[in-house]
Amino acid sequence: MEVYSTCKSLKFPLLAIVLFISLTSPAATAARVSRPTYTNFVKTKCNITTYPSLCQKTLIPYASSVKINSTRLCKAALNVAISGARSATVAVSELKKKKGITKIEAAAIKDCFEDVKDAVYELKLAVDAMGHLSDKDKEFQLANAKTYASAVITDADSCTEGFSGRKVNPAVKKIVNSCMANITKLASNALALINHLY
Ligand SMILES: *[C@@H]1O[C@H](CO)[C@@H](O)[C@H](O)[C@H]1NC(C)=O
Ligand SMILES: *[C@@H]1O[C@H](CO)[C@@H](O)[C@H](O)[C@H]1NC(C)=O
Ligand SMILES: *[C@@H]1O[C@H](CO)[C@@H](O)[C@H](O)[C@H]1NC(C)=O
Repeated sequence: MEVYSTCKSLKFPLLAIVLFISLTSPAATAARVSRPTYTNFVKTKCNITTYPSLCQKTLIPYASSVKINSTRLCKAALNVAISGARSATVAVSELKKKKGITKIEAAAIKDCFEDVKDAVYELKLAVDAMGHLSDKDKEFQLANAKTYASAVITDADSCTEGFSGRKVNPAVKKIVNSCMANITKLASNALALINHLY
């Protein structure tokens, strides 16, 4: 049985190790007092998202750097979505190397690869826009961030659509669907947080 790359990324285990080290270091003592406040802030904000438990799971690791800053929370959510989209890029590009891939499959994989690359790019633009909210054109920047985050969901849908109703290896379809569902959920959560920023 061949093993395909899934959308798993190393980011979270690594982050957990870093957090563990920082928790056990003396420097963390001072911060310990506020940690529950920061965690509760994330939990409360996540409550308004479409996938609250995924939101908490992915964003609580950033609680101590987000503190109680909603803009930073949105940026963290977008960065988590970038990491999800990057994992998808890797998983999709590995599908290309799969043995016995048909022409139909290869074409859908190629289109999907473009979609996820676009998604990564749009998420970066959204992060960038969120960094300009203290500019004069803040309304414009905020609207841009929302547009980019929505576009990501459209891209993920477009990839999934490319495989549906076609004669495609179920294993391929399964990987694609799970990667795209991940992107959609992470981007939806980021979008909800941006929509409820003020
Ligand atoms: C979704 O994306 C996150 C962030 O990169 C990753 O840790 C997780 O493994 C992904 N899940 C799936 C099912 O692809
Ligand atoms: C989330 O919302 C539910 C009901 O909508 C509420 O009961 C719960 O206390 C909220 N949790 C947080 C952490 O805000
Ligand atoms: C939140 O953080 C951003 C930097 O990411 C900063 O520009 C902004 O002033 C902060 N907002 C508050 C209310 O502290």
